[in-house]
Amino acid sequence: MTTTTTEDTTFLVQLTDLHIREPGRLAYGRIDTAPFLEHAVQSVLRLPQRPDAVVITGDLSDFGRAAEYEHLARLLAPLTMPVYLMPGNHDDRGQLRRSFPGHAYLAAGVGSAGFVQYAVRVGALRLLTLDTCVPGASHGELCGERLGWLEEQLDACRGEPVVIAMHHPPFRTLIGHMDEIGLQRGAEALEALVARHGNVERVICGHLHRAIDVRFGGTIASTSPAPAHQVCLDLSPGAPSAWALEPPGFRVHAWSAQDGRLVTHLAASGTFEGPFPFHDNGELID
Ligand SMILES: [Fe+2]
Ligand SMILES: [Fe+2]
Repeated sequence: MTTTTTEDTTFLVQLTDLHIREPGRLAYGRIDTAPFLEHAVQSVLRLPQRPDAVVITGDLSDFGRAAEYEHLARLLAPLTMPVYLMPGNHDDRGQLRRSFPGHAYLAAGVGSAGFVQYAVRVGALRLLTLDTCVPGASHGELCGERLGWLEEQLDACRGEPVVIAMHHPPFRTLIGHMDEIGLQRGAEALEALVARHGNVERVICGHLHRAIDVRFGGTIASTSPAPAHQVCLDLSPGAPSAWALEPPGFRVHAWSAQDGRLVTHLAASGTFEGPFPFHDNGELID
């Protein structure tokens, strides 16, 4: 077995569904999401390997208000690596751009509606983001303009490892109330496009507030837990729309140049006992 050094590896952290409110205001009248994001930020900073970048796959705020984004900016400030923001159905494209003028990649909109889609390099990875949002609606869509941009980008980076990031996952999760506000247009076309580009290592998504993995267009599509509240696990069409304070987390996507693979880990957010050694003087502790 050979070992790799971290210089061979690109680390992309995925946070998602922060739902930050104005200071002191509770989401759903019950949860202060801000301290949960602080824990997640500290967990990212404590990782043994410094991430090359953090991408946040939407639902940055709860209502897309300026005061929420101001609060978010303060909460993200400790992150010292590039942070890439994406809108979710709880966000507002225009306000997001106005609130984060230092995030130059947000400025150039794609298509007639100015979709927040951009291509950036993260270490050895190419990160392509899709804007699945429909203003005023909870569900998502991908139209021809958005998919056309993706096709151009994919054709321009054949042979490079690509991660596609989007808020609404392009697959049914079997959680009925979430599928009702899922991606209602463009999923089949996206899957066909991904299937034609074998260099798409992963399609990473938000919106679901829990970890899900599925085969999609010959690659893997996944969602991630949120830093605060999770959507309850009930795989029935009539599942009640509900959340719970299950353990929060985030994803660490690690591209190993030596292996030519993207390895995705699920990381817990928060502080826990340990680390403790397995061995003492080379012997397994009995
Ligand atoms: Fe969300
Ligand atoms: Fe969402």
